[in-house]
Amino acid sequence: MKRLRMGLIGVGGIAENRHIPAYQALTEHVEIVAVQDVNLVRAKEVAEKNAIPNVFEDYLKMFPHVDAVTICTPNKFHEPIAVAALNQGVHVLCEKPMAMNADEGKRMLEAAEANNKIFMIGYHYRFVDSVMLAKESMQEVGAPIVTRVQALRQRKVPGWGVFINKQLQGGGSLIDWGCHLLDAAFWLLAPSKPIEVSAQTYQRLSKQPNQVNDWGSYDHEAMDVDDHVSAYIRFDDGSTLLFECSWAANIKADKTHISISGENGGVNVFPYEFYQPKHHRMMETRADTKEDQQEAAFLQAQNFVDACLGKDTLKSNPKDALLVTKVIDAIYESSEQGKSISIN
Ligand SMILES: NC(=O)c1ccc[n+]([C@@H]2O[C@H](COP(=O)([O-])OP(=O)(O)OC[C@H]3O[C@@H](n4cnc5c(N)ncnc54)[C@H](O)[C@@H]3O)[C@@H](O)[C@H]2O)c1
Repeated sequence: MKRLRMGLIGVGGIAENRHIPAYQALTEHVEIVAVQDVNLVRAKEVAEKNAIPNVFEDYLKMFPHVDAVTICTPNKFHEPIAVAALNQGVHVLCEKPMAMNADEGKRMLEAAEANNKIFMIGYHYRFVDSVMLAKESMQEVGAPIVTRVQALRQRKVPGWGVFINKQLQGGGSLIDWGCHLLDAAFWLLAPSKPIEVSAQTYQRLSKQPNQVNDWGSYDHEAMDVDDHVSAYIRFDDGSTLLFECSWAANIKADKTHISISGENGGVNVFPYEFYQPKHHRMMETRADTKEDQQEAAFLQAQNFVDACLGKDTLKSNPKDALLVTKVIDAIYESSEQGKSISIN
């Protein structure tokens, strides 16, 4: 059987720790044939360590040698690289967030559609066991009323890479971390759609010198992205979502939370719990679900590879990723303008 020839673009932390192990566990179906990185020393190191035969300085030169690429560069380069690859007939798995903004996201989607190529954004939370079980429970939850989403880290601004650089990343805790939970929540709530956002973003705490930070040190003067965000999101079915994210919060411990209260029941995702009235009292159901990110990354890689080989359909539609990008744009715009923003 034909194996998919995979190229990796931007071989930093996520490429090495998540994508390479996932593809290496799928060697019957996919072969990593090349890597590319602006840091050629790093690219050569990763290639040698993982027995990857080709290293390219220029990703355009890589495209004729691969069937698909996985893009793991800073966010600013997601769109130009994805569009170039799709236009060369190469399938694309691009790390989250989709892009710096929705205009870029639309261009990526158009290129995928025009070239009829598989295009996926790495929102791997959809492949987390407890999220998948919550999706199966949504019918029993019934029409959603209120959803709560929290992506909170206690003092963990990423001190490596370019995560605090707005020019290269487009934003901070929201576009980097909150985006995962928004994607998972919107997927659970579909077909309900977000239509309006009122939000506030902050960067007060991280602009102060000598902050306690568990993920290395960072230059507080150069920091120009959000470290706290709160938002109130209205949906087309009249339901609402309360959103909060931060990577520098003064809280007891990190918190990853999605819960949905519906007309017939309620679901909590991390850990999975289901609440429903029965026999005149509230009942609680638990499940032995896992919340393993590596496992989710493996399932995501498997789904992408199978879709490229024509054996499966994508479980993560890029149109959904564009919706997340539009909401992120609206959150930033609402905060800047001090008013609610509609999502089109
Ligand atoms: N799915 C997740 O949970 C998750 C986790 C971490 C990072 N990410 C995403 O992955 C991407 C990379 O994050 P990371 O943590 O690996 O960062 P990183 O800084 O560790 O690695 C980025 C790599 O890209 C290279 N690079 C920079 N510009 C490039 C360009 N124009 N062309 C080719 N290579 C280029 C850098 O030299 C570096 O090796 C980001 O978009 C981030 O949001 C996703």
